[in-house]
Parts: sequence; C-alpha cells; structure tokens
Amino acid sequence: MAIKTIIEPFRIKTVEPIHGALRTERPKLLDAAGYNLFLVASEAILIDLLTDSGTAAMSTDQWAAMMRGDESYAGSPSFARFRDSVQGIFGFRHVIPTHQGRAAERILFNVMCKKGQIVPNNTHFDTTRANCEYAGAEALDLPIPEAKEPAHLYPFKGNMDTARLAEVIAREGANKIPLVMLTITNNSGGGQPVSMENIRTVKEICRKHGIPLYIDACRFAENAYFIKLREPGYAHKTPLEIAREMFSHADGCTMSAKKDGMANIGGFLCTNDDILAQQEKDLLILTEGFPTYGGLAGRDLEAIAVGLNEALEEEYLKYRIASTAFLGNHIAGEGVPIVQPPGGHAIYLDARAFLPHIPPAQFPGVALANELYLEGGIRSVEIGTLMFGEHAQMDLVRLAIPRRVYTQSHIEYVVEVILEVWRRRERIRGYEITHQAKFLRHFTARLKPIPN
Ligand SMILES: Cc1ncc(COP(=O)(O)O)c(C=O)c1O
Repeated sequence: MAIKTIIEPFRIKTVEPIHGALRTERPKLLDAAGYNLFLVASEAILIDLLTDSGTAAMSTDQWAAMMRGDESYAGSPSFARFRDSVQGIFGFRHVIPTHQGRAAERILFNVMCKKGQIVPNNTHFDTTRANCEYAGAEALDLPIPEAKEPAHLYPFKGNMDTARLAEVIAREGANKIPLVMLTITNNSGGGQPVSMENIRTVKEICRKHGIPLYIDACRFAENAYFIKLREPGYAHKTPLEIAREMFSHADGCTMSAKKDGMANIGGFLCTNDDILAQQEKDLLILTEGFPTYGGLAGRDLEAIAVGLNEALEEEYLKYRIASTAFLGNHIAGEGVPIVQPPGGHAIYLDARAFLPHIPPAQFPGVALANELYLEGGIRSVEIGTLMFGEHAQMDLVRLAIPRRVYTQSHIEYVVEVILEVWRRRERIRGYEITHQAKFLRHFTARLKPIPN
C-alpha cells in the first residue's frame, strides 16, 4: 500500500525556542497593547501567524550561498547569479533588484503612471494600491464576483473579471490605462490563485489595446502549483514549466522575495522594455542603490537566487499547500466559517459569520484575533473594518503560515485553539476605538472591549 502521509520535506538543524507569555499574563499584555496585536512584543507570542512575509526559515543551501556573497558596490558576481536565477524562471530581459516588493512598485508606478490614469488589477495589495495612488493614478480592483463570497468553492477565485476589464478599457480608452496588473496569488482576496486561462485572456485583451501586462509575482510558485492541481492540461507539467508559461504572457513583474523568494528581505522589478528599464534604473540609483545591488547586500541576492528555485520544488509545494489545507479543512470540518477553498499561504476566518452578534462597526475580526491570542498565544491579523473602514466588504482574520517554520504539531495546536474559541464564541464581545491615526490606522490603533 502506498504511504499517504505528507511530511515536512526537511529536517531541523537549528532550533529557535518559543515560549510566549503565560496564559495568565496575556490579558494584561493585550490591555497594555491597546487590544492591537501589532503592538504586542513578539516574545509574548507563541505561534506567530501575523504574516508569511520575510518570516521563512532558510535552507542549508541558502546559508551556504550567503557565505559566497560578494559585497562589491558594482558588478558583483552575486548579482549575476541573482539575475540568472530570476531570468531562468521569469524570463524577462531586465532584472532590477530592490530592497522589497513595495520599492519595485514605487519605481514601476512612478515611471509608468500619470495623474488621472487607471491601473486595473484583480485586487491591489495595500502597498500596491498606496504606491499607485501616490503616483496619482486610480487603483481599480476587478475581482470575479465569486471572490466576494467566502463559502464559494470556485477553484480560481483570484481571477480577474475579464468582461469588466474590457468594459473599462472601452469606456475610458486605452490611453488612460498605462498597465494592467494581476496579483498571483491574490493576497487581499484570500490567497486564491489565478488560472492560466485567465492570465492568457487578460493578456489577449491587453494586446488588442497595446497595454502592457505586469504580474505582482509574490506567490508565483504557490500559484503555479494550484494550476498544476486544478487546471486541466497541467497535471504533467513541473511548477517551473508552469511558472515560465505564466510569465511568458506578461511584459514585466514586481516581486517581493520575502514570500516565494524564501528570503527574509528583498525584491525585484522586471521588464522587457529597454526604454522603461533605463528610466527605472535611473530612479533606482536615486533611492535604492546601484543596479547590481538595489538596496540589498550581496548575500541577500545569493539567498534569493537559491530560494526562488527551492520554492518551485514539487515536494516542498506539496507539503506547503497540504499544510495550509490541513488547518483549513480541520476547522471547517467542525463548522468554523473560513474563506473557501483554503488558499496557498494562509487561512482566512470569516469573522462576521463566526461572531454574528458583533456588528462590523464593533470589529468582529479584532475580537476574534484577540481571543486566539488570549486562548493560545496565537497572533493573526484582522483584515476588515479596522483595516479598511467602511469600505470593508468582509471582516476576516488571516492566519498566514511562515514557510518551513512550523511543524504539523504546531498546526494541530492552532486547530485546537480555534475550536476552543469557536465553542465559547457567544460570550465574545466587540470593541471600540480609543485612538487612531489618519492613515493605515490598523497598525497603531488602540481599542477597548465594549462592556456587556
Ligand atoms: C501581493 C503582495 N504584493 C506586494 C507586497 C509588498 O511586498 P513587500 O512587503 O516586500 O514590500 C505584498 C506583501 O505582503 C503582497 O502580499
């Protein structure tokens, strides 16, 4: 009989002890942090699922490669290895290193966008939206309708609504649209993948109107694996072949190497356009650094060069997607409402359905995230009314899973904690804000529980 257990495809060489705060200490710590988990010290957290960004464990090959890092200001061989690795997967002519994803976004929008223009995307991530708007353009989200229904099981909920894209271009004119973007996977939309068919159709529409297509590639390897699993015609292809095909339809990309680059810092911007690349490199020198390091150390370039290929290893992806699904399926099986189907990097709890007695104005996502901390020392993040104000379409709690960091027993512990909170959900109270900043208030807001 074939063995069915999917194991972590690595063994542990260095360990980092975790203690977290005692259960009895957590209420005081949360109160002191204004009931905002961003303001709790990481030593007081037991399992940190705040983000999958920059939190990966690096491999022995990455650490070995870092020792080769050449820190020359110009012409470092570390850059050559980084560029070759990126080109081997992404295939673009120009590779511009940046210190992280949002720096690539800032440079791209600065060079390509003018005031009053529109940039359509399946869903802009918050830094992408902010950088687009900072350049004076409108960031327009065009997700498919299924994306807004948490329980809907559609396999490619990250897709762009191509009929609406065509409509927007017809209404506004191609001149008003300097580029179209696709975010793979769609982080703000529940970590859901985009199908190859959708990428091809979006490109076809763009080609007809002479509009370049850029991919926000943060979780490109997870997206490629979902295509392999779910899209007819791809089961026999490797994730690398699928990734190459995805990018063959694009004119460039932005990338945060803190995700599927398996690195703790870094990013890049790619393009096939020689003239744009020159303008982008000129801007890079102004704010990031010389084009052969772009704000990164030579050793960071080496870690990314290795990490991008490790993220595409099939054994790794099989374990990665299975461990996220393990968490989602175990809690959903007990009735806990989540965004379905489980995404690549995270599980999103539907806080409005979990806590129907708490209205959105009393932040059900914050209430749920805080209970997970009090119950089990787990840190998650609210993506809902605190983050987006009255524009929030849903109140979600994201449990993002760092790459190669936690084992199955950690995930089993998380399942147990969520189920414990689920059992006593009717006693959970809402919150009100006592202090908030003008922009991006979720990072620093202070709140207090509303008395019964
Ligand atoms: C889809 C997406 N785009 C862009 C970014 C920005 O990347 P960075 O945090 O490296 O600036 C992120 C980060 O979380 C992301 O998830």
